Amino acid sequence: MAKRDSFSSRFAVLVALIGSAVGLGNLWRFPYLVGTNGGAAFIIIYLFFVFVLCTPIVFSEFLVGRRTQCNTFGAFKKLAPGTKWNWVGLIAVISASCVLAFYSVVGGWTIDYLVKAVTFRFTTSDQGQLASMFTDSVSSVWEPIIYLVAFLGLTCFVVVKGVKDGIEKFSKMVMPLLFVLVVAIAVNSLLLPGSQKGVDFLFKPDFSKVTAETFLNALGQAFFSLSIGCGTIMTYASYVSKKENIAVTSSLTGVFDTLFALIAGVAIMPAVFAFGISPSEGPGLVFITLPHIFAQMPGGSVIAIAFFVILFIAAITSSISLLEVPVAYLKEEFNMSRGKSVTICFFLLLGLGVLSSLSQGVLSYFKIFGLNFFDLFDFMSANVFMTGGGLLLVLFVGWKLKKEDFMDEMSNGGTLKIKRWFLECVYFIVKYVAPLVIIAIAIASIIK
Ligand code: PFF
Repeated sequence: MAKRDSFSSRFAVLVALIGSAVGLGNLWRFPYLVGTNGGAAFIIIYLFFVFVLCTPIVFSEFLVGRRTQCNTFGAFKKLAPGTKWNWVGLIAVISASCVLAFYSVVGGWTIDYLVKAVTFRFTTSDQGQLASMFTDSVSSVWEPIIYLVAFLGLTCFVVVKGVKDGIEKFSKMVMPLLFVLVVAIAVNSLLLPGSQKGVDFLFKPDFSKVTAETFLNALGQAFFSLSIGCGTIMTYASYVSKKENIAVTSSLTGVFDTLFALIAGVAIMPAVFAFGISPSEGPGLVFITLPHIFAQMPGGSVIAIAFFVILFIAAITSSISLLEVPVAYLKEEFNMSRGKSVTICFFLLLGLGVLSSLSQGVLSYFKIFGLNFFDLFDFMSANVFMTGGGLLLVLFVGWKLKKEDFMDEMSNGGTLKIKRWFLECVYFIVKYVAPLVIIAIAIASIIK
């Protein structure tokens, strides 16, 4: 059998994992959640969830992938042969495809807006006009589909080249640029007169705003932001060498993802407040509010270009990691070439993406459980597949996998000098705390 593709260094693995984690969630949701859930008070809760609860889950996903060196389905087949656990791997494939079905549509919008920024289309500072520009763009039939094809096509172009020559090379090229640009915009935002209000909105602790919902929001965001439960970490980890330190690499991914989210907050909120606008989240923030601000800001047209480059890179590196999940599955379980599996995924995802895209316009009346296709894919992936997949994963690692295998993989067969108490704590969290918290949060969401 041909040698399996792999990442060439720790830096490469890290950059690819950070690329997967840093995405639209960091840019259009995190800053808003922080601001409306008590500023620094929310950040403390979020940090707790990221590092105490979610990082051990990331370790678990990493460990399964690295130990088996297989796609998500094959991984469970290898670790629990003859059982139904391989369904967990299949759920990851479905989950990643579901996220891609709406994520790639938004990815298309980022290209659309990058083109608009480069051709200086944000000349009006009339927010109403910018809002209708956005609604018209996304609800039309062909324009968003063309951009969707471009976005998915680019994603496939990187993935078809393989792990080392595609994913690794691309991530190494764009991720440093992403960080440089976001820092530059953050500095510029802080220099605007009146920016202090935005800084206060983000960082002033207000414990009176902390409610049960704050915890729900923080955990949901931590899961989504770290890309837990979609099989992306597991798939990337399957290309990682046995010498890599799982605990260090996974923790650094969390550190950089959080750092990026905080810098993104500083890039966005001070500017929003400096222009006296009320903050919002989601597509409205990045496609309406920010262009409105760029139109009024000195040097705004250049900043608009930089911002949409950031949005595009953040979206595409996440999409690449998502696409690799079904691609690796088809390639290895059905013995296909990479080219063939990428082609099949392209057409399947394009079909789902077109449905999501049209549900913003002509198909908006078509609803399942009261949700249009776009919202359905969003809801199903975040609330059903990612949470369910995450839960099954920790149950597998905590209850089905042998404890010695867990310890063995975390310490690279005992060659890494990791403190035993640390590994015991992580194991305890994976086995007892994580499943209970995920179930409690799921019940709380259903009640809500
Ligand atoms: N972590 C990405 C974000 O914050 O936008 C989204 C994401 C990527 C979720 C990859 C899940 C995934 F597998």
